[in-house]
Parts: sequence; structure tokens; C-alpha cells
Amino acid sequence: PGLDVLAKRAGLLYFGTAIDNVVLDNEQYTSIAHNRAEFGQVTPSNGQKWMHIEPQRNVFNYTLGDQVSEPGKAAGQLRRCHTFVWHNQLPTWLTQTTWSKDELIAILENHIRNEARHYYDECYAWDVVNEAFNDDGTWRDTLWLRTIGKEYIALAFQFARKYVSPRTRLYYNDYNIEKVNNKSLAVEALVTDFLGRDVPVPIDGVGLQAHFVTGRTQRYNQTVAALKLFTQHGLETALTELDVRTVLPDLPEKQEQQAADYTNSVQACVDVEGCVGVTVWDFWDPVSWVPETFPGEGNALLWDAGFVKKVAYYRVSDML
Ligand code: XIL
Repeated sequence: PGLDVLAKRAGLLYFGTAIDNVVLDNEQYTSIAHNRAEFGQVTPSNGQKWMHIEPQRNVFNYTLGDQVSEPGKAAGQLRRCHTFVWHNQLPTWLTQTTWSKDELIAILENHIRNEARHYYDECYAWDVVNEAFNDDGTWRDTLWLRTIGKEYIALAFQFARKYVSPRTRLYYNDYNIEKVNNKSLAVEALVTDFLGRDVPVPIDGVGLQAHFVTGRTQRYNQTVAALKLFTQHGLETALTELDVRTVLPDLPEKQEQQAADYTNSVQACVDVEGCVGVTVWDFWDPVSWVPETFPGEGNALLWDAGFVKKVAYYRVSDML
């Protein structure tokens, strides 16, 4: 019946995928990407990042984001929007100038205001801030932290709340927070700080990216415990960028292990009240970000290079 159809029957709001602009001329790709039965939600892999949206100061270009979000809307798919504030994929005008704190806050607000207005009511959720912590739980040293200080995250959420539709959920999103560890506890501390202030900082959810490695990942109960770190505070959660990469060469045994890693992850979300959905970080192996970022690893997704569904697809489908 399709992954989204099954996920909804299992109680999730959606099963979704990231979509990259570089393959939008491939009809086999787009027909799966916007097949409502497989995917009830889409995320642009790159098109809404700062370098594309505001390539020159105060010059906004929504082309790449719209290329994913408009067909998604037409197909009846929810859109997760990604991402306002990150340390990667920033334009050089922003990174190669030394800004004062006030200037950078004004740049941040202007960016969020414009992009939020363009996608005003289009997004089920926005990843407002992405990857602000190191694995040891300390704050990642970024342009934002260095220039504005720790308040940059609260400011970003306040700007987002001010400018996007009140219906849009505001998420903090990060990787390696899929178990209880220093990093996920740091995110939980951020959340409790935000919610505990006299004037609470608006935050609705925490996204667990879930970039896993075949056989080296994640046990089901670890994912459940990590999701509950956030749902216990009344926030919603989601697996926002699920993929399971394999050390090449791939083998039938590895595909079975990968399938188990996928199903354990999806099952954890299904089982935790407040985990609303699962998004895979693309579905077709040739467009995965993995081979470029992790040399020697690949085959992380649910459809192989020939558009044939892999073991992991069928195991997830059977489990749902
Ligand atoms: C990745 C894209 O998939 C790549 O195409 C791009 O070159 C780099 O970024 N965490 C995130 C995503 O939050 O935005 C990243 O996406 C993958 C890791």
C-alpha cells in the first residue's frame, strides 16, 4: 500500500522523505518522491538553506525550495522546512565579514522574517536551529555563538514564532541525539531552560536526525529513551533524516542488518507517544549525501540505483 499509508495506520502523522533538486529532471525519481502513498511529507535536502535562500545580503531566492515544496503541496504532502540557522551552507557574504553582535542579530531576524513569510503557512514544521551542540554536550563553536552568544538560539525561535504561521511547529534538530548521552542531555537542558523561563521561549519539537550505520547503530530501547527525553516535557519529536549507511562493499547479510536497523528506528517512533513521523534523508541511493561525506560508505537508502526496493523497504513495510 505504500509506506505513508501504512505509517498512518500505525498511528504516525506521516512517513516522509527528503528530496534533492539535482534529480528533479528524473521522472522515475519524482514519481516516487511525490507519490502520496509512499511519502506523506517532504523536506528539501538543500533548497531552503541560507546559501540558496539569501545568496547576497537581503537578496532572496526561493527557487530551489519551491521546486520541492510546491509539487509536495500539489500532491497533498506535508512539508517540513529545513533550516533557518545552521553553521554549514552559509553564503560567503555572511561568513567572510566580521559582524558586530547587533548587526548579526539584525541579519538573523531579517533572514527569518523573509523566509518565514515566503513559506508562511506552507510548513508543518520548521527546523529553526540545526546542530548547535558538540557530541560532548558543549556548545558548537559557530559564527552565531561567537558573535551573538548562547542567546542566538532563543532569538531564532522568537523570530520564527513571530513570523511563521502559528500552526507551524518550531523544532530544534540535531544528530547523535538518538540515545541518552551528553549531547541529547544538553538539548534537553536547552528545552527545560526555554520552557522554564518567566516568558517561555517558543519551541514545539525536537528532531532526531537519525543518521545511522549498518550494524553499528542504535538499539530500539535507546531510541525510545532518547525520544522520551523530549516528549516528557510535552514536546513532540520526529526522526527527521533517517538513513542507515553501509561500509562497502554491500552484501546480503549487511542488507538484512540494515533492514533491522531501519525497522528498529521506525518502530521506536511508532511506540513513543509524541513521535509524530519519520523522514528518510532521501530514498534513492544515487542521491544520498553519504558517499561524498563518508568515503567508503553508501547504499544507505530504501531504493537501489535501479529504483528497485531494497530489503529495508520491505521490512519496514512489513513492520508497519
Ligand atoms: C546534506 C545534504 O543532503 C547534502 O546534499 C549537502 O551537500 C550537505 O547537507 N544534517 C542535516 C542536513 O541537517 O541538512 C544535511 O544535508 C545532512 C546532515
